[in-house]
Amino acid sequence: MNDLAPARQAVALTGAGISIDSGIPPFRGKGGLWERFDPMEIAHIDSFMRNPAMVWKVLVKDLKDIIDRARPNDGHKGLARLEQLGILKSVITQNIDGLHQMAGNTDVIEFHGTFAWQRCIQCERRIETSWVDASELPPRCTCGGILRPDAVFFGEMIPPAALWRSQEMASHCDVMLVVGTSAVVQPAASMPIIARQSGAVVIEINPEPTPLTGVISSYLIRGKAGDVMNRIVSALEIKR
Ligand code: APR
Repeated sequence: MNDLAPARQAVALTGAGISIDSGIPPFRGKGGLWERFDPMEIAHIDSFMRNPAMVWKVLVKDLKDIIDRARPNDGHKGLARLEQLGILKSVITQNIDGLHQMAGNTDVIEFHGTFAWQRCIQCERRIETSWVDASELPPRCTCGGILRPDAVFFGEMIPPAALWRSQEMASHCDVMLVVGTSAVVQPAASMPIIARQSGAVVIEINPEPTPLTGVISSYLIRGKAGDVMNRIVSALEIKR
């Protein structure tokens, strides 16, 4: 708390772990999506282009149902509160679930794109995912083109604006909170390295250590994102 209380330019980097308590499964570890599916078969752009109906059926449709139902948990709400308190500037998220925005954070960089929108691979028109009729797969745009999530598949580039802004935020923050990410997927995992090199205090919130722990992060607060954020927010509110 001593590092966060005086912070005015804190940035959070979040991953799937923060959304677990909202009912969205993580990618790695027990119960993770990549335990059931090979990401290169199911989440690679080449697979999607080869067989969009299969990727929709196996991955996208399930995710749509799960994300449609998901609501922010105390982890997301805690980060929104840190913004209200004037401590947190931005959230860089690898998640595509839109829960940070729903919780109230106003500057969310969606590093891996978003699942809230689908995009036509032919005419590039975007349509809100909740409006997509997935009764026939793959769903199509009015022009006849196939719809794809506006998220980054393996084998695709990070949206340049998201990458550039994230690097900018990472190099100017005073504290970086790294919440619920295994920190193994690049280039997202290098944001804490940029922050540390630029003089920020890097704090991890995770039940498990990661490759950053003890190397890049100053310390790890072990626990679930919601529980830890509740403790942090209560302590900061008492201090004010
Ligand atoms: N609170 C916080 N962290 C948690 C919780 C919890 N309740 N439960 C688990 N975790 C941690 C795990 O210990 C792990 O370190 O969340 C992390 C989840 O890791 P991943 O599943 O690898 O998710 P993420 O880091 O977001 O993955 C990065 O990989 O496949 C790609 O594109 C996908 O954006 C994703 C990227």
